[in-house]
Amino acid sequence: MDEVRVYRDIEALAQESAGLILEEIRRTLHRHGRATVILAGGSTPRGCYSDLAGRLSTGRVPLDRLTWLIGDERWVPPDQPGSNEHMARQTLFAPLGVPAQRILSWQAGTGDPGYRAARFEEKVRRHLAGQLEETGGPDRRPPAAPRIGPLLVLLGMGADGHTASLLPDAMAVLPGSRRVPMSPDLPGLAAAVFQPETGVWRLTLTPRFLRQACRIFFLVSGAEKKETLREVLNGDPRYPASWLNLPQTTFLVTRDAVEAIRL
Ligand code: 6PG
Repeated sequence: MDEVRVYRDIEALAQESAGLILEEIRRTLHRHGRATVILAGGSTPRGCYSDLAGRLSTGRVPLDRLTWLIGDERWVPPDQPGSNEHMARQTLFAPLGVPAQRILSWQAGTGDPGYRAARFEEKVRRHLAGQLEETGGPDRRPPAAPRIGPLLVLLGMGADGHTASLLPDAMAVLPGSRRVPMSPDLPGLAAAVFQPETGVWRLTLTPRFLRQACRIFFLVSGAEKKETLREVLNGDPRYPASWLNLPQTTFLVTRDAVEAIRL
């Protein structure tokens, strides 16, 4: 059974979700010493990230123990508006002074999407193997054991039921340029995504990787998502967001996005 928490408006969602995420970061760092936070893109999380930056900046959380990823990216360079990384830089990374080495960037928008997805997967695999951690000291011995800590995942949801850039009617482009229909069972950790009808390219982590999260928070707002959210909460597999509706998932939603009966 998924947990659903309903908030009166986007401001309340921002504040309450930032508090819950901070609590989860603190709990994970206390238990594991490290954590990897995978951020959602889009517009809903902006207020949450700004609020979270304020809470994290108090100095009581060891920021050098956190690594940040963006769960998916538009085909836009990270220094341009419209990029999810650009939004995260503005709302969270810059206010916190997060150094570049603590951010795994898709480097979207230049070159080939399939190539970028494959490079990002390599970057993530090195991170998961603890090879991207600073080993300090001149001898730079490899870390004794992977020290990446558990994954905390934040996701949004579109009115069509997509999450990250797992677009329901798109093709996933796998390493070697093999194209397969969008699926909950995409191989690997990252993929390029092509939407034939719009010609849109995206980059995304796969459901297989996202399902490894110890905790997943969906942030959903907007009356246009009401019907889809009801289906996703019921686990309708037609919608990629349902593929991440797991025991460790909590839906943080504004009142306009849920049926009156759920109030
Ligand atoms: C993106 C996101 C996407 C987003 C949903 C919801 O690149 O836009 O990764 O999955 O979370 O589309 O977007 P809003 O929060 O703006 O409604």
